[in-house]
Amino acid sequence: MQTFYLPTQVITGLGCFAQLGKAAVRYGQRALLVCDKRLAQQTDVVQRASALLSAEEVTLTVYDDVAREPELPIVAEGIRRANDADAQVVIGIGGGSAMDTAKAIAGLCLLPGSLLEYHEGRKLEGPGIPLITVPTTAGTGAEVTKNAVLINPETRVKRSIRDDRWFARVALVDAEMTLSMPPAVTASTGSDALCQAIESYTSIGAGPLSDALAMRAMSLIGGSLQTAYERGDDLGAREAMSMGSLMAGMAMAMARVGGVHGMAHPLGSHYAIPHGVICGLLLPYTMGYSLPAATAKYADVARLLGVDTAGLTMEQAAGRAVEAVRNLVTCIGVPMHLRAFGVTEDALGPIIDESLTQSSLHHNPRKLGAEDVRAILLAAL
Ligand SMILES: [Fe+2]
Repeated sequence: MQTFYLPTQVITGLGCFAQLGKAAVRYGQRALLVCDKRLAQQTDVVQRASALLSAEEVTLTVYDDVAREPELPIVAEGIRRANDADAQVVIGIGGGSAMDTAKAIAGLCLLPGSLLEYHEGRKLEGPGIPLITVPTTAGTGAEVTKNAVLINPETRVKRSIRDDRWFARVALVDAEMTLSMPPAVTASTGSDALCQAIESYTSIGAGPLSDALAMRAMSLIGGSLQTAYERGDDLGAREAMSMGSLMAGMAMAMARVGGVHGMAHPLGSHYAIPHGVICGLLLPYTMGYSLPAATAKYADVARLLGVDTAGLTMEQAAGRAVEAVRNLVTCIGVPMHLRAFGVTEDALGPIIDESLTQSSLHHNPRKLGAEDVRAILLAAL
């Protein structure tokens, strides 16, 4: 059984950011915009948002303290700002961190109790306020997912709060918003999108609907990631990446992901490695381990990434998928070894323990126990 539930109005196309004011005014006259300092200070996005909102007589409060990782105190402060401003709608503009921070602010600002309680598993008793997402990367797919991955900076525990009421009401997916992404961010966020497309396709939660999205996502990402990295002003490549990332996010929201994401969360909370870099790095190793459990699907992955599989056996074609992924992520500068980030064998114990508690890990096509996770991490060291 698979449920397709995506209550988000998804608006795509170059220039669709111009719809922000009209989208926001449906929900009220007071908006909180959540973003990071780079977006607020080094781009004109906030000024453009402000003009679009004031044209619809929506007043705007800007909260630009989003950090590289969505840490609990930043979300808690955002909830205070939303309540001080009596916000009726939250707008998250940026990468996954900004959108997840916005998602948690919108989802929790009306609820009793502390953010920490919800992060530790307290049930959500009610809805929040409407959320609009605008990705500026391609990407995490966070514009169309119902979970926010948040970190407790004291314990370094990274965990999702997930609820059907946390889907954005509107997602504005405008590839023009991604043009200013530097190559390193294009590489890391693009690797995340690639990984999410492949892992949702091979997940044990996959089904025909999520497969349709994941397959198109793989061909779009496979055909455009390297170009977007090398020539950031190539609008065609940027648009393909935005659509690929969006579709991978939709597929992931239905099918969930796999072992790479299960290991990426603990690694990302213990080491300052961008999420997408960890995903790109671990992906070929984890695919190599998983091949026997989903050989036909990995053979499809090879074909969708542009490998000529004519004349190959299914096993050979599946093996080529691992090669194709390794080549692609290497071409865009993703390191192939965890030691490049200071990870050592001695430090793997807690990473393995925490990986085993991640639900993503248990959606991997080939079952992963502690020794399997260790073997993959040792190979990736
Ligand atoms: Fe991811």
